[in-house]
Amino acid sequence: MVIGIDIGSTTTKVAAIISDNNIIKITTRAVDAITSATGAFGKMIMENDFRLDSIDRINMTGAGSSKITGDLFGIKTNKIDEMAAIGAGGKYLSKKDRIIISNIGTGTAIIQVSGNVITHLGGTGVGGGTIIGLAKELLKTTDFDTILRYALKGNINNVDLNVGDIAEANIGFLEKTYTASNFGKMLDIASREDIALGIINLTYQVIGMVSVFAARSKDNHTVVITGNGSNNPIGQKILKAISGMYNIDFDFPADAEYATAIGAALST
Ligand SMILES: Nc1ncnc2c1ncn2[C@@H]1O[C@H](COP(=O)(O)OP(=O)(O)OP(=O)(O)O)[C@@H](O)[C@H]1O
Ligand SMILES: [Mg+2]
Repeated sequence: MVIGIDIGSTTTKVAAIISDNNIIKITTRAVDAITSATGAFGKMIMENDFRLDSIDRINMTGAGSSKITGDLFGIKTNKIDEMAAIGAGGKYLSKKDRIIISNIGTGTAIIQVSGNVITHLGGTGVGGGTIIGLAKELLKTTDFDTILRYALKGNINNVDLNVGDIAEANIGFLEKTYTASNFGKMLDIASREDIALGIINLTYQVIGMVSVFAARSKDNHTVVITGNGSNNPIGQKILKAISGMYNIDFDFPADAEYATAIGAALST
């Protein structure tokens, strides 16, 4: 068995692929790289009654993996390029082999998969960390569930300027309801719920548009969203609205938050 460990900037994920329908997954919060990797690995071994000698290899990836040298617990330990791992994991989970992947983690990486060729196209520093950081200052919380709960009750029109606020009619293909400027209105009456929604809207609209441009530049219409940012229900809705405007499909595969760890486990 091969175990994939993804030591991300915020969370560490571990995946073991037992069979196509049986992937064992573990998440822990990132502390230092060594504690994260050994802790998450230990949790997986203990909870699943794995024997250490049943593990052939550990494939480690993610920003924190560079801090770990040598083998873990005497098991052959390889380093896997993070972008290659995201590509392999996104391809496996989406079951498609010509895609653009936007991996929304703490930041966002954009990768092209074209058959067996995986290319890191670029990305944006806007990602999950942006939501947490802005919420810390503006909402006095860093708890993700609280931020989402606020945002569900928010009114975006108190925060964002939309096309209808500045023009009497559509501007070309921009309809009156589309965003003209994120946080560009910011009314005095804006509540913490409105601001929470504004933060998530800003984050996902930037990621969505960068993904659209990446996909179009590669003549592709399918963007697979991976990383913890994939299963954010409000984020999904924002990306689906962009789908309608730009004719790009966004896919949200199951287990997308483990895509990097799964891709590492699949790598040779
Ligand atoms: N329950 C949760 N716990 C922690 N973060 C969460 C949770 N739900 C959503 N998030 C968001 O996911 C982000 C982390 O995503 P993910 O675990 O994919 O990143 P990472 O792999 O640690 O970072 P990167 O890939 O950029 O190095 C956080 O910044 C936060 O906004
Ligand atoms: Mg990551």
